[in-house]
Amino acid sequence: MATNWTPESWRDATGIHMPVYKDAAALSATENTLRNYPPLVFAGEARNLTTDLAKVAEGKAFLLQGGDCAESFAEFHPNNIRDTFRVILQMAVVLTFAGKLPVVKLGRMAGQFAKPRSTPTETINGVELPSYFGDIINDIEFVAEGREPDPARMIRAYSQAASTLNLLRAFSSGGYANLQQVNAWTHDYMGRSPWAQKYKETADRISEALAFMEACGITPETVPQIKGTSFYTSHEALLLPYEQAMTRQDSLTGGWYDTSAHFLWIGDRTRFEGSAHVEFLRGIGNPIGVKCGPSLEPDALLRMLDTLNPAREAGRITLISRYGYDKVETGLPNLVRAVQREGHPVIWSCDPMHGNVVKSASGYKTRPFERILAEVRGFFAVHRAEGSFGGGIHIEMTGQNVTECTGGAVAVTDEGLADRYHTHCDPRLNAAQSLELAFLLAEMLNQEMAERAKKAA
Ligand code: PEP
Ligand code: CO
Repeated sequence: MATNWTPESWRDATGIHMPVYKDAAALSATENTLRNYPPLVFAGEARNLTTDLAKVAEGKAFLLQGGDCAESFAEFHPNNIRDTFRVILQMAVVLTFAGKLPVVKLGRMAGQFAKPRSTPTETINGVELPSYFGDIINDIEFVAEGREPDPARMIRAYSQAASTLNLLRAFSSGGYANLQQVNAWTHDYMGRSPWAQKYKETADRISEALAFMEACGITPETVPQIKGTSFYTSHEALLLPYEQAMTRQDSLTGGWYDTSAHFLWIGDRTRFEGSAHVEFLRGIGNPIGVKCGPSLEPDALLRMLDTLNPAREAGRITLISRYGYDKVETGLPNLVRAVQREGHPVIWSCDPMHGNVVKSASGYKTRPFERILAEVRGFFAVHRAEGSFGGGIHIEMTGQNVTECTGGAVAVTDEGLADRYHTHCDPRLNAAQSLELAFLLAEMLNQEMAERAKKAA
């Protein structure tokens, strides 16, 4: 267990990007309420995820992490949860089929509510109010009362996370994720995408293989992996009063786990030395992620890895690089070399979203699909050159037919962004763009696997 750590030792470190609640008594009453609520996940599940991720670190599995930039109270609906879940299933099938690797599925779901913002306040027509920090903290509507941080929102976020997770668990093990349903996971509105046809072809081949296996006696009854799937949840551990209240001592091992999700990550803005967020996460037993942007120096990363994973446990740390399409090939190699030199076991995952935000001519925050793809290509090129394993992808996506990122085969244009721009924070890939990315990613992964096999031979 981490030395000199308690669930509240983060309070003595430098905590930024967290709200100041005016009513301290209301905040502590909420924390107390949450402390008495049931955990959302069980420590044993978090350990299972670490075991799964250790396979990724070894190059024997691939990590797929995706979901909203920010979940919202307004978009909370079973259809939205189902649609995002099924795009993730579709992507996982494509990646498994092409890469011949198991895929670890991790949703940015059931708790992804708190957002760091580039400025603490926002000014519109001369009126200055606090920025929107996510539905767990304040309201997106630009009115003074709503923008005031309100601790009661944590209770609503907990409740939404609990029912989202409940539905995800039901889908994962109740039959929806049965591989024999592979043809049913499509979305009607995707008909125009050429990748929907390609998905149908893949699904048909899988169905044929399953029918053959069934004739040989390999059925969902004999092989549970056909009947259901493992699905894990994750979010940025930003709002530490909430995370602390959800942190419990595991009765089996005595270790501390943040039971708000299986996997928690530290954002690019809060991963500095002396950060309250690093302090908090070093003491919990869950697998954790660290966002790695252009300002992260290799030496600082190594010190952080020693802090977060002194025992060098494989599967504990996922490094999520987010450089931007034009910076990844110059920046990332320095981190990879440093980590390889020190022998830290990490999972390298690519977030091609957060370094590729541009403002469209019409004023929308968007991400061009071709830049997202270019960063993924750059990421694999770096790992090929360094002999490391590019083992994961981290994306902001939704199962809805939104128009938030430009480009893709069913091209969203600059002018088209206004049609269905629904995100509460950053622009997400829609279902068609997500599936297209999965196919292109599968090709790259395939190539990566072929080259690794060649080297090993
Ligand atoms: C995010 O993942 O939504 C995010 C804020 O990312 P980053 O910390 O990499 O900027
Ligand atoms: Co985001």
